[in-house]
Amino acid sequence: MSGQTPMGLAAAAAAAVRPCRRRLLSSASVAASKAAPGTATPLFPRLPHPHHPPCGRRLPFLVSAASQSQTGPDAPPAHVPVPGSTSDPRAAVSGNLPFFDRVLFPDSFPLETPPAKEHEDAAAQADEVVEPAPPVREESETEREAWRLLRRAVVSYCGEPVGTVAAEDPECTETLNYDQVFIRDFVPSALAFLMRGETEIVRNFLLHTLQLQSWEKTVDCYSPGQGLMPASFKIRTVPLDENNEGFEEVLDPDFGEAAIGRVAPVDSGLWWIILLRAYCKITGDSALLERVDVQTGIQLILSLCLSDGFDMFPTLLVTDGSCMIDRRMGIHGHPLEIQALFYSALRCSREMLVVNDGSKNLIRAINNRLSALSFHIREYYWVDMKKINEIYRYKTEEYSHDATNKFNIYPEQIPSWLVDWIPEEGGYLIGNLQPAHMDFRFFSLGNLWAIASSLTTPKQAEGILSLIEEKWDDLVANMPLKICYPAMEDDEWRIITGSDPKNTPWSYHNGGSWPTLLWQFTLACIKMGRPELARRAIAVAEERLSDDKWPEYYDTRSGRFIGKQSRSYQTWTIAGFLTSKMLLENPELASILTCDEDLELLEGCACCLSKKRTRCSRRAAKSHAG
Ligand code: GLC
Repeated sequence: MSGQTPMGLAAAAAAAVRPCRRRLLSSASVAASKAAPGTATPLFPRLPHPHHPPCGRRLPFLVSAASQSQTGPDAPPAHVPVPGSTSDPRAAVSGNLPFFDRVLFPDSFPLETPPAKEHEDAAAQADEVVEPAPPVREESETEREAWRLLRRAVVSYCGEPVGTVAAEDPECTETLNYDQVFIRDFVPSALAFLMRGETEIVRNFLLHTLQLQSWEKTVDCYSPGQGLMPASFKIRTVPLDENNEGFEEVLDPDFGEAAIGRVAPVDSGLWWIILLRAYCKITGDSALLERVDVQTGIQLILSLCLSDGFDMFPTLLVTDGSCMIDRRMGIHGHPLEIQALFYSALRCSREMLVVNDGSKNLIRAINNRLSALSFHIREYYWVDMKKINEIYRYKTEEYSHDATNKFNIYPEQIPSWLVDWIPEEGGYLIGNLQPAHMDFRFFSLGNLWAIASSLTTPKQAEGILSLIEEKWDDLVANMPLKICYPAMEDDEWRIITGSDPKNTPWSYHNGGSWPTLLWQFTLACIKMGRPELARRAIAVAEERLSDDKWPEYYDTRSGRFIGKQSRSYQTWTIAGFLTSKMLLENPELASILTCDEDLELLEGCACCLSKKRTRCSRRAAKSHAG
């Protein structure tokens, strides 16, 4: 189905169409939404460890070097788009982002001394400030095709672009729910558009999904918690009355109540926060960030995540299938993917929340949780040769505060594949940790996002990339990147997936290869100064993606076949490829998504304060940091 179809229907009834319904928009937020982003303070923090005053308004990244060097009523807004930049197809490639680069990274652009001839020309045009022509790289045919397809996937609501459908395959008649805009799927699309200077679609997406957050949805008379973001939404054209004389468009969210398994999408709100920060960093739209509804949206998501329960761990307790892997795959409990996104969203929110009496308790809770979460993951999820050997020799049934084997893990759980697989150098974060249970599978998204957000120590981050390099034939092979490794087979597959025919061994979520993960791999590589590794993976993908019609996923141990039930023209495959390319060519832009190591967090762990628990936090976590 075409992404434009709802609008097409609406157009057919154009004369009768009422103004679009904008449900739940308070008059205050409508007024605020009309505030021109052009009046916003240009921004970009390059402060690795912002200090957190106990009270007072704080928007640490709302001050950019640009705004500091040129302020006052006459100072031009630094984020005015370069004229024509959106229509120039070359604008997406290296060096063609003078506006972003110069505004966001003024230090990395020292004024170059032009050669003599140019110098004279420049002097002759003294009054005319001419930007040096940026180097231009010709886009490849694959990139041009990817942009065409990405644009085809754009959907509009009330005449404005608001997102991209999950897949836009003209040959496929069975759309299932792939004609919806998924929150997680839209992230790479958003990044591609943002890096190209097309920010409107992202702004619209952020604001419209925010409106959906408050909708009441129920499954069998039960409503999910306030603050939950939908997994996806669809634009429906509905008749205004029984006579079908007029139509209007409505946004219809799905919180999982129509999805397979009826699982709440825990990752959606986390992605929304991460994307909001990226958008604000790149555009300087501080007016949007300061809006009451946006601040409330962040707070609602976090309140839901930070609410008290019965859990003993700082990690988030969720059901199976509540993230990218949205079917039963044995990842209930405390899956790494959710923890890495949770940590990242907490870090992003801490930068974005306006500090006042209403938010200061929340900010305190965020800081406490960040400390405990980073310690817990660094200490207990990390495995390498040494740690596995330790587990192999664990004693069990230890009752005390200083137990070495805190979660009563039976060494027999170490799977036989891991004994041979774990390299001498490097390591990774395991997929899940529960009482008496370690899920030793390698999950790519969680590990990559843990690097990007600095949930791992720098040393662990290096270790993960070196493991991926060492295990290239298992994790990349013919298509980057395995969603998880290894696949579950036989009884394990039968029991854990419930005999799911889509998740058979080495297919789909069960060891399939997902090209969309390429952008997160690229991001992690850039953060760790290893772009060559990303370049290698992108080259592998570029060989096949276009010829294979941009599949959703690949099957088999080495990713040789297009997935059994894979969609073609999957939008996040297309956008992930473009985003990877653009990040590689503008590596500075990676910082709109990454967080730096915050050593202060390690000081704040609650365990430090307890005299009873000796083997904990500060020293242990810092020892990893080396
Ligand atoms: C599949 C994926 C999910 C994705 C959706 C739409 O269900 O598991 O992560 O959001 O397809 O592409």
